[in-house]
Amino acid sequence: MTDRHDAPLPGGVPAPRSAPLPPPPGTTPAGPQDGPSVPPEAQPTAAAETDAPESQMRYVDVTGSREAAGRSIRMSDMARRLPQLVRRSLALAWRVDRAATVGLLLCQAVTGVMQALGLVAISGTLTALLASGNVYHRLLEAWPSVALLAGASGVRALLGITVGWLSSRLGPLMSREAEQMLLTACAEVELCAYDEPDFNRDREAADRGAQVTGDLINEGQDLIASAASFLAGAVVLTGVNWVLLPLLVAASLPQALAQVSSARVRYLANLRSNGDLRMLSVLRWHIYTKDAADQIRAGTMAPFLSGRYRQTVARINREDRAAADKGARMSLVGAVCGGVGSAIVWGAVVWLLATSRISVGHAGTAIFALQTVGQSVRGLVGVGARAVRTGLYMDDWSGFLDKAGGFRMRRGTHRPKPPQKIEIKAVSHRYAGKNQDALSDVSLTLRRGEVTALVGFNGSGKSTLSKLVSGLYLPTDGQVLWDGTPAGDADPQALWQQVALVPQDYAHWPLTVRENVTLGQPSPRGDAAVREACEAAGADEVVDKLGAGLDTLLAREWLNGEELSGGQWQRVALARAFFKEAGLLVLDEPTANLDPRAEYRIFQRLRDLARDRVVLLVTHRITNVAVADRIVVLDEGRIVQEGPYHQLSQQPGLFQQLLSYQVTSEESQCDGEHRGART
Ligand SMILES: Nc1ncnc2c1ncn2[C@@H]1O[C@H](COP(=O)(O)OP(=O)(O)OP(=O)(O)O)[C@@H](O)[C@H]1O
Ligand SMILES: [Mg+2]
Repeated sequence: MTDRHDAPLPGGVPAPRSAPLPPPPGTTPAGPQDGPSVPPEAQPTAAAETDAPESQMRYVDVTGSREAAGRSIRMSDMARRLPQLVRRSLALAWRVDRAATVGLLLCQAVTGVMQALGLVAISGTLTALLASGNVYHRLLEAWPSVALLAGASGVRALLGITVGWLSSRLGPLMSREAEQMLLTACAEVELCAYDEPDFNRDREAADRGAQVTGDLINEGQDLIASAASFLAGAVVLTGVNWVLLPLLVAASLPQALAQVSSARVRYLANLRSNGDLRMLSVLRWHIYTKDAADQIRAGTMAPFLSGRYRQTVARINREDRAAADKGARMSLVGAVCGGVGSAIVWGAVVWLLATSRISVGHAGTAIFALQTVGQSVRGLVGVGARAVRTGLYMDDWSGFLDKAGGFRMRRGTHRPKPPQKIEIKAVSHRYAGKNQDALSDVSLTLRRGEVTALVGFNGSGKSTLSKLVSGLYLPTDGQVLWDGTPAGDADPQALWQQVALVPQDYAHWPLTVRENVTLGQPSPRGDAAVREACEAAGADEVVDKLGAGLDTLLAREWLNGEELSGGQWQRVALARAFFKEAGLLVLDEPTANLDPRAEYRIFQRLRDLARDRVVLLVTHRITNVAVADRIVVLDEGRIVQEGPYHQLSQQPGLFQQLLSYQVTSEESQCDGEHRGART
């Protein structure tokens, strides 16, 4: 099944890298038909088809609304939806380039008129040529019609070129605009949306819709052209004998039905393969980008990954083959019925001529008009079926925009000031699809001027709590109050102006060092502020070693880019947080990659930073948390201990346990080093 909708879509711009490997951003997966993009060794084999464990690595939902929409591609739906589609494509075209849109419409209208004139000219020519009398006189009589015919054909050819030119200008613009609208919509959704499989699936579908939006302009133009040519032919044909028109339309119906049905079959097959196509895209990203290249080699994972790739390709191939077979059967039946219908129409023309109901000249005109109408009916239905299918993809796009996948942020308008205190009141939080709370009944108050440290085992809820405090998530139960106002009542953008966050998995933006620190929002103090933040985070040493200083592009794979080490990246991420003048500083594992000297500097600075802000620190470096005014120990989503370091370290409990593990491991490390030094 190869058509434009199933073709690979552009993308491939590297994502900002963060610690977990990201799937390709905005790349809609390409199908197995994409030839070169499928590695030769990854071509499906019979063994792979039979061995494929069907339950593995599939996330495809064929029972959703898009499946229902796909099933509803019928003639009647098509007739109803076509005007909507043309309107929608014109509206988007109008948005991106008004002059080109008006030009297109004018060209189509004139093309229709030229088509009608051409048919009238054919009629005039044939009538003159087939009349009795002197050849010279007949030719003299015919030439104005011949001139009209030639003129009309010439103008139509010119208009065709103009339409092609304008459409090819508009198509990409429309796709880019649709993509832009999608990006804006995604930036406006609640963070929790990304935890919902439905949201991710709808976003992928919307992405594909955005990509094919440009096709709609061509399809819309083809539709208008077919409609204009149908109208012109129909007028002329009715003039010859009205019986011919309904006969011809009836004769074209079987093929039309077959085309609509095969469009439906193809859309449904594509829908069924959507999850697999997405999986291919994810696998391809991991197989051929740099991020996991070392692990694929060291882990000798290549055969395993290409095996998975093969299994997925095999499933898609099965769907494709079934759709192609079914489509071919439908086309065959349509063609046979259409052939019988055409024979009836031609029989009717012969009968009309034989019974002298029409003249020979009219019969000639009828032949041309029949061809024109027949072609335009087939064109209308063929393009119509394609346009409806494009429309289904576009529905995915516009539906997503309307409700931002159902997760548009609807919070309040309060604009928080730098907080004096943040109260977490009886907060519980459960992630989508989980049957257990990540946090249960947590109450805590964070104050300006204090450093609060969160410690606990992996998965105890530390990062979740830090995201709730930052207003990134809203709690499923309880309240997070910023100076008495629930985080959900605040304008999210205004609230995040007050948040400086170093998340556990921070982005490695492929931008310059300066932009990596300012995040595109420079300070009025210019580079002085950037340098100060870098110094505070120990990133000044990193910048000094870079060829172009703050102007260095931190993307090795791009020309003149530089790559940083893990710890150097972490220093840059810390500089980002120190640069931002925000009332809340949240550091989630800020020193995990730092050397002891850099770590020491950061912990020393925390006290300074806390003077005029609320500081929340998540860390596993238990020996360093003495810097905090208060330590909160989390276990399985609950607070189990709370107090200053000297108190918790004396008191039996989880904190003492954590401390003893770390001290023991540090001691054994020291012993090892000493032994190493002695030998
Ligand atoms: N986006 C998410 N969707 C679903 N569950 C999640 C998500 N993020 C975290 N969880 C779950 O919530 C629980 C708490 O996770 P959290 O990331 O808060 O732990 P943590 O204390 O920060 O752990 P670590 O020390 O490993 O960073 C875990 O059981 C985790 O599986
Ligand atoms: Mg964490």
